[in-house]
Amino acid sequence: MKIVELVADLRSSLSPWRRLGETIGFVPTMGNLHEGHLALVEQALERSDRVVVSIFVNPMQFGQGEDFDAYPRTLEQDCQRLAPLGVDVVYTPTAATMYPRNPDASTRVAVPGLSDQLCGASRPGHFVGVATIVCKLFNQLQPDIAFLGEKDYQQLLIIRRMVEDLDMDIEIVGCPIVREADGLAMSSRNGYLSETQRQQAPLLYQRLSALTHKLIHPVTNFADLEREAVQALDAEGFCTDYIAIRRQSDLAPPGPADRDLVVLAAAYLGNTRLIDNIQVNGIP
Ligand code: PAF
Repeated sequence: MKIVELVADLRSSLSPWRRLGETIGFVPTMGNLHEGHLALVEQALERSDRVVVSIFVNPMQFGQGEDFDAYPRTLEQDCQRLAPLGVDVVYTPTAATMYPRNPDASTRVAVPGLSDQLCGASRPGHFVGVATIVCKLFNQLQPDIAFLGEKDYQQLLIIRRMVEDLDMDIEIVGCPIVREADGLAMSSRNGYLSETQRQQAPLLYQRLSALTHKLIHPVTNFADLEREAVQALDAEGFCTDYIAIRRQSDLAPPGPADRDLVVLAAAYLGNTRLIDNIQVNGIP
């Protein structure tokens, strides 16, 4: 497994494979890899001839006062987990490589509409940072397929939209959420939780699941369901940012004809922001 830091080295590693017609699968990450990331890598290994994983904690997607400095950086452990799987290249660019003119003075990619709601409403600029870095990574690597987790459902839709709008010839594969035994969605941020908070955390998934069961019966007032779930979660010690029932395809509020929905949530436990979602297909 090669570890490369520079775009030129990345490109020279990939070009012989590309010349041979081998497909390149790509898993973008911010490191501190857990089973959720490894599931993306497994998918990439199954579906492509060569696999590249990037590790870069992207300053542009963190707002003022967010956890950019505290975000866990565990490169050595991450490489130890990736090497035995058969990953070909780990790309670990520096901030100077990704933002030669510093993030504030760099070209940005915005995906309006999809980016301005839900997590985007609470974290202004976050999805511009995500779209910009993923666009740059895609340009640097030019992968055939990229693998992203469905835990960041809004991010996944934004990246799909960006690829479509900018005519990038890349297949985007969304991979299912990987959960701990008690239901908590795996996330690098789970490591911030105290022991007590870690015990409370699965309630987020439990509340979402309970809400999805109510969607099975004919329900018209989604706003009431959302409000009840927020109240329940707040009473259980969370500070809930939102619980929202949306259309899977574009995150619009569902109309009476919409059958494929996604229930999304973001909530704080102390200072830790947790997100989760459940897709529900074909509600009656
Ligand atoms: O999901 C993440 O880890 C990040 O948002 C991503 C896609 C690697 C971009 O920095």
